[in-house]
Amino acid sequence: MSTRDIYRPRYHFTPPANFINDPNGLVFYRGEYHLFYQHNPFSDSWGHMCWGHAVSQDGVMIFSGSAVVDWRNTSGFGTADIPPLIAIYTGHSATEQTQHIAYSRDAGRTWRKYAGNPVIAIGSRNFRDPKVFWHEATGRWIMATVLADQQRVRFYRSPDLIHWEHLSDFGPAGSTAGEWECPDLFPLSIEGEQNSGRWVLKVDVGPRNLPHGLCGQYFIGQFDGIQFVNDNPPDLTLWADHGMDFYAVQSWSDVPAADGRRLWLAWMNNWRYANTIPTSPWRGAMTVPRSVALRRYPEGLRLVQRPVVELTGCRCNHFGRAGLSVADTNRQLQASGMAGDALEIIADFRLTGATEVGLRVRSGDGEATVVGYDAVAQRLFVDRTHAGDASFSPDFPDRHAAALTSVADRISLHVFVDRCSVELFGGGGRAVITDLIFPSPGSTGLELYALGGEPVAERLDIWALQP
Ligand code: FRU
Repeated sequence: MSTRDIYRPRYHFTPPANFINDPNGLVFYRGEYHLFYQHNPFSDSWGHMCWGHAVSQDGVMIFSGSAVVDWRNTSGFGTADIPPLIAIYTGHSATEQTQHIAYSRDAGRTWRKYAGNPVIAIGSRNFRDPKVFWHEATGRWIMATVLADQQRVRFYRSPDLIHWEHLSDFGPAGSTAGEWECPDLFPLSIEGEQNSGRWVLKVDVGPRNLPHGLCGQYFIGQFDGIQFVNDNPPDLTLWADHGMDFYAVQSWSDVPAADGRRLWLAWMNNWRYANTIPTSPWRGAMTVPRSVALRRYPEGLRLVQRPVVELTGCRCNHFGRAGLSVADTNRQLQASGMAGDALEIIADFRLTGATEVGLRVRSGDGEATVVGYDAVAQRLFVDRTHAGDASFSPDFPDRHAAALTSVADRISLHVFVDRCSVELFGGGGRAVITDLIFPSPGSTGLELYALGGEPVAERLDIWALQP
């Protein structure tokens, strides 16, 4: 590790070098999860956009998009025995954004662009980010794209991934505070309910001029193969994550039905400072993969997110206590010497009059990141005001919060800490906060704390993580 590489995460994805943004082409095929990404192969700032290492010299940048397995070879680019992988992406030039496809017959190792590209061109400069899936009920491919500056998601369908027909538009609705980008549409079941489900339409709100940088919003409704109908009033905004660093989340296509999960992962960054974060020689990382579901609350259905169970495979050293006061638990934690820059923490608290409970992570020499629960305001929060280096952006030092009610006087926190990030899941994934942090490498301290009352750490489990 070079001294300039101190923030390279231990278990989050980063490129070997240079700038990345959105995850692209997430698809599961023959036992492999594929992850492509928006990449500048030439520098550590945004530009010359390509997918992964696929370098284009033709003046058209390759913007975000998705990938599918064409199981029935509807496109004709594979054979009956070898279903092709098809990548669907935006070609960006100074004058237009158009939708293109490319195919691979070797499980994504090499790709060829379709000679008849673009497959959709409408003469727009703000038409991008195609996400495609097979809609079983109508036997068609569906594409969700955005008319970014009109805050609309535009739907198309196709029998073969080549010929596309415009179906309908959704929006403006929810937050229209910036351009709409990176749509995704998928069905989700409701936890604990049989044969019920809804469609979730996720679309990011370009944060370039948003004060709080809340960026991934979602709508819950119905999709019949033609149009998306929102269950909620059009002005209701639902955020998938309440931190600053969760953007362009995309779900994996073709996860086997026997697995049944909807898995997604986001670019862990924010356009407000994406080009200036103090990392080198890479710039940009992905969140941990998460599985999503819908859960019923008094206020309605809401998305819940959980880190994927496969991450338990990274657990090594463990510290655990149960049923002691927060103060005693912390004394034992300090005595144990448990610390680190790559940790998973599960902390279940009984509040018993406390006004605040939580953890200080990545602490040392006057800096710490606080992850906790404000029982008075009933808010989950991450405070990175004194987390470490913030010299690169005045927007960076801040506290981010999400509403969360305690249940039976209890609150549960599930935290992932890495060299330059914290991901906080509260209330079983009801509220999530993803934030970058840039502490010095020596800041590996960890403490449990509480203000007021006599709170109990009903459970505290901490693992050091190693990929
Ligand atoms: C979102 C985005 C997409 C676009 C890509 C370009 O972060 O602006 O809309 O396709 O990045 O890199």
